Amino acid sequence: MPSNILVTGAAGYIGSVLVRQLLAAGHRVRGFDALFFGGDGLIGVFGHPRFEFQRGDLRETADVGAALDGVDAVVHLAAIVGDPACASEPDKAREINGAATDHLVDRCLTAPNVTRFVFASTCSNYGRAEAGAFVDEDSPLNPVSLYAELKVAVEQRLMQLPDPDRLTATALRFATVHGLSPRPRFDLTVNEFVREVTLGRKLQIFGEQFWRPYCHVEDLASACALVLDSPVGKVDRRVFGVGDTDENYQKQMLAEAILQQIPDADIEYVKKDEDPRDYRVRFDRIGDELGFAITKRVADGIREIHAALAAGIFSDPDAASYRNIA
Ligand SMILES: NC(=O)c1ccc[n+]([C@@H]2O[C@H](COP(=O)([O-])OP(=O)(O)OC[C@H]3O[C@@H](n4cnc5c(N)ncnc54)[C@H](O)[C@@H]3O)[C@@H](O)[C@H]2O)c1
Repeated sequence: MPSNILVTGAAGYIGSVLVRQLLAAGHRVRGFDALFFGGDGLIGVFGHPRFEFQRGDLRETADVGAALDGVDAVVHLAAIVGDPACASEPDKAREINGAATDHLVDRCLTAPNVTRFVFASTCSNYGRAEAGAFVDEDSPLNPVSLYAELKVAVEQRLMQLPDPDRLTATALRFATVHGLSPRPRFDLTVNEFVREVTLGRKLQIFGEQFWRPYCHVEDLASACALVLDSPVGKVDRRVFGVGDTDENYQKQMLAEAILQQIPDADIEYVKKDEDPRDYRVRFDRIGDELGFAITKRVADGIREIHAALAAGIFSDPDAASYRNIA
C-alpha cells in the first residue's frame, strides 16, 4: 500500500474521518482543503507527526502542484457536495467538480510518484431507477442533477485513461452518508432527521416512499483505505458502489427506525414535489471482490447522533458550518 497519501477535502465530513484512519494505519497523510466550512474537523490531528496540512484551492494550478509533491496516492474527496449545493452555485460546481478535477487527474498522470487515484463518486448517478428495482455498477446511469452529471463525467474519463500501468484509477459510488464525524453534517437525511426530533421539533418528511442506500461515514472512509490496499488488478479502472444491500431504506423506514429509539418523535408526512432521485442499490461487487463489509448500520448512526445531541455536545446544531447549503 502507498504510504504518502494526499487527501483532498481532508477537513470535510468524510475526509476528517479518513485522515484519522490512514494515520492510525501508519501512513503519512497530506490533507488539502480550502476550508470552505472551516477546519475544526482537523483540530485533533494537527500535531500528529505524520500529518501535514496544506490549505489550498483545487482551482489554483500552483496549489495542486504543491499538494502532489512527493505523494504516492490521491484520495480525491474535495467537491461542491450534493444536488442542492451544486444547483445553487453551478459555476463553482463546474469549476471544482469538473475542470479542476480534470486538471488534478492530468497532473496525477504526469506526477513522478503518484500511482493511485481514488475518486469519490456517488450513487446519485443512478438518478431515478425503475420503481422497486435494484441497480448496481452495471446498470445504466440516469443523472438528474448537475452534481451527478459532473460525477458521471469524471468516472467515465477515469475508466478510459490511457496507459494502464501509469495510474491505477478507481471510482467509488458512495451511498448517502450518516453518522458522526469531526466535521458533522446535519444536511444529510439521517443526521438531519435525528437532529430535528432530538431537538423536539416536528419532523416533516417529503417523498417518504423513495428508496436510497445509506452508509456510515466510518465505513465509507474505510472503503477508500481498502481500495488503496487492494491489488492493482482488482481496482484499476473499476467502479465500486460503497454500501450494503441491506441498508437501502425508504424515508418512511428511516422514520420507523428513529421511532424505535426515540418513541416520542413528532413525525409528519407531507406531500411536495421532491427530489426525483429514487434508487435501491446492490453492493455485492465491493464485498465479493475486495472483502468490504460494513461495521455500522443506520440504527447505529441514529443512536450516536441522538446521544451526542441529547448530551449537548453541539452548542449550535443549526450552525451554517454543519451544512453545505445556506
Ligand atoms: N456525504 C455524502 O453523503 C456523500 C455521498 C456520496 C458522495 N460523496 C462525495 O464524497 C466527497 C466528500 O463529501 P463530504 O460529505 O465529506 O463533503 P464536505 O463538504 O464535508 O467536504 C468537502 C471538502 O472539500 C473542500 N473543498 C471543496 N472545494 C475545494 C477546492 N476547490 N479546493 C480545496 N478544497 C475544497 C471543502 O472545503 C470541504 O472541506 C465528495 O466528493 C462527495 O461528492 C459524499
